[in-house]
Amino acid sequence: MELKGQVAVVTGAASGIGRASALRLAHDGAVVGLLDMNEAGLLETQAMIEAQGGQALSVPTDLLERSDISAAFGRITDELGPVDVLFNNAGGPARAGTRSFPNANVEQWDEVLALNLRAVADCTREVVGDMKARRQGRIISTSSEQAYRGGPGFTDYSAAKAGLLGFTRSLALEMAPYGVTVNAICPGVIRTGLTDQMPEEHIQASIASIPMGRIGEPEEIAHAVSFFASPGASYVTGTYLLVAGGRTLH
Ligand SMILES: NC(=O)c1ccc[n+]([C@@H]2O[C@H](COP(=O)([O-])OP(=O)(O)OC[C@H]3O[C@@H](n4cnc5c(N)ncnc54)[C@H](O)[C@@H]3O)[C@@H](O)[C@H]2O)c1
Repeated sequence: MELKGQVAVVTGAASGIGRASALRLAHDGAVVGLLDMNEAGLLETQAMIEAQGGQALSVPTDLLERSDISAAFGRITDELGPVDVLFNNAGGPARAGTRSFPNANVEQWDEVLALNLRAVADCTREVVGDMKARRQGRIISTSSEQAYRGGPGFTDYSAAKAGLLGFTRSLALEMAPYGVTVNAICPGVIRTGLTDQMPEEHIQASIASIPMGRIGEPEEIAHAVSFFASPGASYVTGTYLLVAGGRTLH
């Protein structure tokens, strides 16, 4: 219960990596604010946290709307208290599917950048001033191995996830004097709603390219989140942890 008495916020908490991480942070003792546009999924996550003896607050939020984000963090601060840990996790490639760059449209680019990068900055802006004043806080974001490897059809997503690493480095430098750490996790292929939509032959092709010979589980990302949030990570900032079964090694 290393996070007992702390407030954590997880975006994209209705499923996948966000859900597993919210459960993990609650297991570590934090009270968890859950943000997602999928209200039914949020309530399921909340029920799972409560079933393991934890406490959570579901706040349905569209992260593409700044006014929604401000209202959500206002409610969390009012009802739970100041935020100690922010896990910026919501994201993903274009809902309409990937498109080669010459066929990509500007609207798709804007939306992928807005969800994977701008919303991270917007959520962080809501908490970082207070973290700085209190001289404590952990900001953790979900980037992707795509930030390193790239991928055909993923120019927008790769650009956003690589941008997130630059954001992490720069904010870490700004916040270091105040004891606020800023880090990112770069998952490889993880079994979630995102991979459930992939054709089986794509999954098999991915597995063939992963040195560990399998795709990862959301809980394996949640452990990395738990580490960055823990007292033991107090001197770790401006870094990224690849959790990808070794895929970026070749
Ligand atoms: N699964 C993978 O293989 C993988 C690999 C690398 C990085 N990632 C990243 O991990 C993060 C989590 O993805 P996941 O794999 O758990 O997928 P997921 O689809 O299970 O979770 C994404 C969540 O984000 C929410 N979301 C999407 N748009 C939103 C919006 N506008 N407002 C509020 N919520 C919104 C969805 O409702 C969903 O619950 C994402 O940032 C994704 O890019 C995933």
